[in-house]
Amino acid sequence: MEIIYASNYEDMSRKAAIAIAQQVIKKPTSVLGFATGSTPLRTYEILIEYHRQGIVDFSCINTFNLDEYIGLSSDHPQSYSFFMLKNLFRQIQLDPSRIHIPLGTALDLSRECADYEEAIQSLGGIDFQLLGLGSNGHIGFNEPGTHLNSITHVVSLSQETIKANSRFFINLEEVPKKAITMGIKSIMNTRKILLLVSGEKKAEIIRQALSGPISKEIPASVLQLHPNATVVIDQSIL
Ligand code: F6R
Repeated sequence: MEIIYASNYEDMSRKAAIAIAQQVIKKPTSVLGFATGSTPLRTYEILIEYHRQGIVDFSCINTFNLDEYIGLSSDHPQSYSFFMLKNLFRQIQLDPSRIHIPLGTALDLSRECADYEEAIQSLGGIDFQLLGLGSNGHIGFNEPGTHLNSITHVVSLSQETIKANSRFFINLEEVPKKAITMGIKSIMNTRKILLLVSGEKKAEIIRQALSGPISKEIPASVLQLHPNATVVIDQSIL
């Protein structure tokens, strides 16, 4: 694993945006895996700047998002689908047919999960996966205890995640309790991983994930086994 210390959030975001831009310039038809949350927001703003300046052409990429809340329709302001359209996809004018996000309102959720895995395979797998880190060590919505062999599945969110994500909702009760997430194996099968670490309460968990034993209790620790993973840490949080 390559570990890079960025001086602050802005520096981390620039490094991430450059890595994504390099990937798309090298392979314009890249399949990119994206994350939501606070961590990648500035990275997405910089990618939008690259698009506007004509530095990077995103028109031929395909995208897969890590996760989506169950029960929120794609036009719900807190759905991850809405988040991605607002913060990146609409602004880089990405054709909707190239965007893949699990459908949180699917009637048959296990079918939705299987179809999502199949869609990833049918586009040749994910070339570059962007990840954020949960304060409990989750990646995607793979909470502590998730089987390392998991593929896209339905998950019950932990109390810690519900509490952390309640900042985007009116109150704790409004936060969905379940989600669809790509599994640990789906993430490990991606060809390149970039984990961004920023935000409160992440200092201790990233230390454990990088230098502690690999354990399903700290899902991010499995990234130690990925052959092509980079971690960019905003060192102002340490
Ligand atoms: C979001 C996701 C989550 C977040 C993590 C960190 O799609 O998969 O794993 O990356 O919860 O969230 P923030 O960046 O808000 O601290």
